[in-house]
Amino acid sequence: MPEATATLSPAPRARVQAMKEYHPPLGGRDALRLDFNENTLACSPKVREVLAQISAGSLTRYPEREPVEAIVADHLCLVPEMVALTNGVDEAIHVLFETFLEAGDELLLPVPTYTMYEVYASATDAHVVTVQAADDLQFPFERLLAAVTLKTKIIAIANPNSPSGSVATRAQILQLARSAPHAVILVDEAYFHFHGETIIDLIGAVPNLVVARTFSKAYGLAGLRLGLLAGPARMMRWVRRMLSPYSVNSIALACLPPALEDTAYLDWYVSEVLAARAEFEAALDAARVRRWPSRANFILVEIGAQHAEFVRLMRKAGVLVRDRSSDPGCDGRVRITIGTREQMRHAGTALNQTLAALRAESEAR
Ligand SMILES: Cc1ncc(COP(=O)(O)O)c(C=O)c1O
Repeated sequence: MPEATATLSPAPRARVQAMKEYHPPLGGRDALRLDFNENTLACSPKVREVLAQISAGSLTRYPEREPVEAIVADHLCLVPEMVALTNGVDEAIHVLFETFLEAGDELLLPVPTYTMYEVYASATDAHVVTVQAADDLQFPFERLLAAVTLKTKIIAIANPNSPSGSVATRAQILQLARSAPHAVILVDEAYFHFHGETIIDLIGAVPNLVVARTFSKAYGLAGLRLGLLAGPARMMRWVRRMLSPYSVNSIALACLPPALEDTAYLDWYVSEVLAARAEFEAALDAARVRRWPSRANFILVEIGAQHAEFVRLMRKAGVLVRDRSSDPGCDGRVRITIGTREQMRHAGTALNQTLAALRAESEAR
């Protein structure tokens, strides 16, 4: 190879060059994991039984998703043409954006919200239009509605939203869908089980509504990477063109039916988290920590200028929490995942000790 060309490397698309790198802090997590809104315990024992039976021989085959899509569709009272399994909701977002967003289009995004919408949109030629929530971090419905234009191609709504835990009502989502018939309304119901309200029953009836669900949260299968996108069959045909037929692996596909079937486990885990959330809210109130009302398995709290030190000291006490200070309008705010009551009592102790240490530190200054 001539020497001059050896130092040259192929240039990626300009859009990719302009993208920000995104590195979620996944390292060193052998502690109480209250940082990624995961299930903090385990998946259903029925899933573990199936995992134990997976043979080496079965891994030699390519995964076949259609039979499992039919099971999931049935579970959701939809037809299989309306449901695509994905490698986590992240793949659903990625594929949906790649399918619909092109130059001149707008992605309308209430912020703060889930980071990956902006990450995947920034790889397309579309323009991201953000609508900042007020200090109460409630869903900025009126301003979102006012921001709809003929260029709006996707409106992405995490419901409940992260990191705020706030929700959009069914009536608000329907009004947005009616006001932007030319746009896809993506309702990301990653935290649906903790909220208990869904709009998935209107798939097909509302021609521009799609709903995403994940198995990473309540089901406790974040490591398997399993999500789904549900939408009108006509729209899903386009999405399937972009979706790899192999992106959901055979282990995930094998685990999905027992995960769906074991409603007793899911109900138990969700009720445990809801009880723990109520207890932890009381502990935050007693400690006079400002918090935002949450319908999900996490709570956003106000720590203020010492947010980074708070996260560091909590880690030292064996509890991982997530600094959301760089999210729009979230300076000084930290998100704490809710686990079981026992875990949250431990977290409450760590929180009180950490707050006392921070207070002592600022008084000494
Ligand atoms: C709103 C929202 N959607 C999607 C995801 C990611 O889901 P998955 O693990 O299925 O990719 C998250 C993860 O934190 C989330 O908060």
